[in-house]
Amino acid sequence: MSEQNRIPQHVAIIMDGNGRWAELRGKERYEGHVAGVEPVRASLRAAARWGVKYLTLYAFSTENWGRPTHEVDALMELFCKSVVNETPELIRQGVEIRMIGDRTRFSEKVQRYLCEAEQRTAGGKTLTLILALNYSSRSEITRAVQRIAARVAAGELAPGEISEGTVSASLDTAPYPNPDLVVRTSGECRLSNFLLWQASYAELYFPEVLWPDFTEEEFDRAIEEYARRDRRFGLVK
Ligand code: FPP
Repeated sequence: MSEQNRIPQHVAIIMDGNGRWAELRGKERYEGHVAGVEPVRASLRAAARWGVKYLTLYAFSTENWGRPTHEVDALMELFCKSVVNETPELIRQGVEIRMIGDRTRFSEKVQRYLCEAEQRTAGGKTLTLILALNYSSRSEITRAVQRIAARVAAGELAPGEISEGTVSASLDTAPYPNPDLVVRTSGECRLSNFLLWQASYAELYFPEVLWPDFTEEEFDRAIEEYARRDRRFGLVK
């Protein structure tokens, strides 16, 4: 890797371990999610310091609807509260909030809060914070296939003209570069339906730390680990 490429342009994080963090302390799982807000702030600070331009956080998967109602409701409240409370500081830092995932399943209130956060932070130049909400790769790819099929049915596109570029451009992530580094905390070594198309050549890093304990120093370790990796993209040196 050249010196310049040692800093990932796009870091994506699966914030895992909130429930276990809370259970280890005899607390409600929800308290683990509340404790998971500070590591979001810490990651943003560290990402900005390293010059990372895109930070994607897996905040709520399509499978998470299957959790107990009170946990889902508490998470929705936390998202609304966090985007309102954090927006002034994000604007100050030049952080633009964007979202991926199918937000139509969220209540009108949650959709309004998310939309306002996007609008108020629009144009931030330091970094783009992409929240994956009601997101899963399979759902995203399925929605992309539906869009492409509609274009074919409308006669705008021939099946043979569908390229990898067509698929990429039809995903929620179309405006963003692919992640260079995917981090999953809590020692679990799987991608769980996260950016499966986009992370084809991403470096993967699985620190043991639970998400609420993820600090700026932990983020630094992830970047340092990335810098040691030898990315070949299927080529030889
Ligand atoms: C996974 O841990 C975490 C979540 C499903 C929620 C993530 C949400 C936050 C960190 C809240 C703050 C986020 C924003 C964007 C304001 P888990 O509950 O699956 O943990 P476990 O595997 O230990 O049970």
